Amino acid sequence: MWDQVRTCMCVQYGAVLLLVATGFLLIRKWIVGATCTSQTCLNGKTVLITGANTGIGKETALDMARRGARVVMACRDLTRAEAAANEIRQSTGNGNVVIRHLNLTSLHSVREFAKEFLATEERLNILINNAGVMMCPKWITEDGFETQLAVNHLGHFLLTNLLLEKIKSSAPSRVVTVSSIAHIGGKIHFDDLFFEKRPYNSLVSYGQSKLANVLFSRELARRMKGTGVTSYSLHPGVIHTELSRHIKSWFPLLKYVYSPVSYMLLKTPWQGAQTSIFCAVTEGLENKSGCYFSDCAEKEPAPEAKDDEVARRLWEESARLVGLTTEQRFEHQQH
Ligand SMILES: NC(=O)c1ccc[n+]([C@@H]2O[C@H](COP(=O)([O-])OP(=O)(O)OC[C@H]3O[C@@H](n4cnc5c(N)ncnc54)[C@H](OP(=O)(O)O)[C@@H]3O)[C@@H](O)[C@H]2O)c1
Ligand SMILES: *[C@@H]1O[C@H](CO)[C@@H](O)[C@H](O)[C@H]1NC(C)=O
Ligand SMILES: *[C@@H]1O[C@H](CO)[C@@H](O)[C@H](O)[C@H]1NC(C)=O
Repeated sequence: MWDQVRTCMCVQYGAVLLLVATGFLLIRKWIVGATCTSQTCLNGKTVLITGANTGIGKETALDMARRGARVVMACRDLTRAEAAANEIRQSTGNGNVVIRHLNLTSLHSVREFAKEFLATEERLNILINNAGVMMCPKWITEDGFETQLAVNHLGHFLLTNLLLEKIKSSAPSRVVTVSSIAHIGGKIHFDDLFFEKRPYNSLVSYGQSKLANVLFSRELARRMKGTGVTSYSLHPGVIHTELSRHIKSWFPLLKYVYSPVSYMLLKTPWQGAQTSIFCAVTEGLENKSGCYFSDCAEKEPAPEAKDDEVARRLWEESARLVGLTTEQRFEHQQH
C-alpha cells in the first residue's frame, strides 16, 4: 500500500514540476519579446548612438556595426567607450566604429560634440537617442536643470536639433528615441519642470522625462513631414542593465536578490535592443513616423503622450531652456 502512495506522490510531484517548468518557459518567452528580423544592410550609412558603452546602447551599436554601418558611439566615459568599441570592432570585423565624447548633463558638452560631428562626419542616417539615467538623487546640472530631464530629454533635444540639417541632407534618415513604459501616468509640469516648487520624487521625474521622449519624437515627426526624416519612440522592455544603479544604491542588500531574480525575469541587453534596432532599420516604417513601439511592433502610447498641444509647448519650452532659438538666430547672422 505504501508503495502505491509513494508512486502516486511521485506522479503528482512530476506533474507539478512539469507544469512549473512549462509555465516558466511560457513566461520567459513572453518576457523575451520579439526579435528584429530585418536584413537591412547599412553599408555606406552612418549611425550615431548615445550611451553606447553599455546596456542596450552597446547591443544596438554592435548590431549596426554588423550591418556594415559607420558607428559613432557618443559616450561620457571614453575609457569605457573604447573598451566597448574594441569589443564591437573585434566581434564584427567592422573597423569603422568610433567613439566621441558626449556628456549629456552639460549643454556645453552637447554643443562641442555637435560642432565636431558636423565638421568631421559627412552624413547622419540614423540617430539613436538612447542614453538615460533613472531615479538618481536630486542633482542639478551646471545649466540649472534637474538631471533626469536634462540627460534624458533636454540634452537629446539640443543634440537632435543641432544635427538636424545633417540628418535632413542624409535623408531618408531616422531619429529613434528610447523612451519607456514609465511614461504612462507622467505629466509635463510646465510650471515646475525641475522640482523647484514641489518635493523631488525621482520616479515622478523619470516618468516626466520619458513622457517628454515620446512627445518630442511625435513633434519631431510632425515638423519633419515631407523631408524624408522620420522619427520613432519606443519602450525597450524591462532589461537587466546598469540602469537600476541608483535604486540599488538605496538598498545595498538588494543586489543579492536582484541578480539571480533579474536573470530569470528580465530581458538580456540583446533582447532589450531589438525594438531600437527594429525602429532603426525596418523597411517601410516611414509611414509610421511619430509612432511608439514596443516588442518590435507599433503600440498605443498613453493618452498623455498623444497630446499634440503639450508636445508643441514642450518643444518651445525646451528650445528656450537650451538656448536653441538664440543660437539659431546667431547662426543665421553668421551665414
Ligand atoms: N533597462 C530597462 O529596463 C529600461 C526600461 C525602459 C527604458 N529604458 C531606457 O533605455 C535606455 C538605455 O538604458 P539601459 O537600460 O541600457 O541603461 P544603462 O545600462 O545604465 O546604460 C545607459 C547609458 O547611458 C549613458 N549615460 C548616462 N548618463 C549619461 C550622460 N550624462 N551623458 C552621456 N551618457 C550618459 C551611460 O553611460 P555610463 O556607462 O558612462 O554611465 C550608459 O552608456 C535609457 O534611455 C532608459 O531610460 C531602459
Ligand atoms: C559631466 O558633466 C558634469 C557637469 O559639467 C560634470 O560634473 C561631470 O563630472 C561630467 N561627467 C563626466 C563623466 O564627464
Ligand atoms: C505603410 O507602408 C507599408 C509598406 O510600404 C504599406 O504596406 C502600408 O500599406 C502603408 N500604410 C499606410 C497607412 O499607408
